[in-house]
Amino acid sequence: MFSNTKEVISALADQKYIASDEIGTVLFLAEKLGKPVLSEGPAGVGKTELGKVWAKATGRTLIRLQCYEGLDESKALYEWEYAKQMLYTQLLRDKLQVILKDATSLSDAANRLAEEEDVFFSERFLLARPLLQAIISPEPALLLIDEIDRSDTEFEAFLLEVLSDFQVSVPELGTLTARHQPMVILTSNNTRELSEALKRRCLYLSINYPSHEEELRVVRLRVPELNQRVAAQVVDVVQNLRAMDLKKHPSVAETLDWAKALVMLNADNLDEHTLETTLTVLLKHESDVQRAKRELNGGNLTRRGGTGRPSLPSNFQGGRPRGRS
Ligand SMILES: Nc1ncnc2c1ncn2[C@@H]1O[C@H](COP(=O)(O)OP(=O)(O)OP(=O)(O)O)[C@@H](O)[C@H]1O
Ligand SMILES: [Mg+2]
Repeated sequence: MFSNTKEVISALADQKYIASDEIGTVLFLAEKLGKPVLSEGPAGVGKTELGKVWAKATGRTLIRLQCYEGLDESKALYEWEYAKQMLYTQLLRDKLQVILKDATSLSDAANRLAEEEDVFFSERFLLARPLLQAIISPEPALLLIDEIDRSDTEFEAFLLEVLSDFQVSVPELGTLTARHQPMVILTSNNTRELSEALKRRCLYLSINYPSHEEELRVVRLRVPELNQRVAAQVVDVVQNLRAMDLKKHPSVAETLDWAKALVMLNADNLDEHTLETTLTVLLKHESDVQRAKRELNGGNLTRRGGTGRPSLPSNFQGGRPRGRS
């Protein structure tokens, strides 16, 4: 499909996603090797979006499994539609009465019913959840397993089986095997360490805050109506904020929200007043806002490289900033 990483990066750019060389390389290899990708990084750096745009760029159907604590097989793989089975039982009551009419005993009646049970445990009543949907999809699919670190370790172990075989055994129906092996992207915010076994099966991709140049390209692509000079100022400020010791650094998502807010305000220059009144679009903790205002008064926030080197978020353990090697 793609013959080199540059083609991958350009296909993502067509979907308005700015990808580093590292992202391009990992996705290229994932396609060639048929391996899942595990993308890890802080909130709002484009992990989920990468799955969405990768599906679009390759013409695959996107199937998303959102993980959470307590997520189990029945919500991720399949369950029987009991309500529909009950409804059919009611509708077929007359027919069932005919079958059971001259049953001689309770066990005879049960045996006769058991002979008919295939009707009620057929694909008609099977509710496919995302993992099964990806496996039985008639079209090539991209399975986005979002925020896997929120699920329990038992679920992670179960996922390993599915990811290694791409087949599922439904006792009443037999084994269902993937017609096209789905492309899989898992995301994690690194709130807990994932198992080595899962990591081993995946190509690892660390996505971090973008470089100044990359972020400016994201803003220009996603909010083209923003004045070019203001766009550059926006990125200066955001990058400076990331170099500060804050409770929560602004992510790309917040940069874009801020850029859109400035368009709404018709801002054609990022003066001190505009900055001060809109800072809360970027920062969500009062102490961070106060700290940023102090830097603003010192003139450091708007100067490129004004507050020092960008730092990693305090809750992020792995990876390195994107765009560097
Ligand atoms: N490299 C990029 N190119 C284009 N848009 C980007 C890029 N990175 C982030 N974005 C934009 O930033 C926003 C947040 O991205 P996304 O929701 O994918 O982040 P996330 O890493 O999944 O965050 P979370 O961990 O909170 O779920 C989206 O609107 C996305 O379009
Ligand atoms: Mg996400």
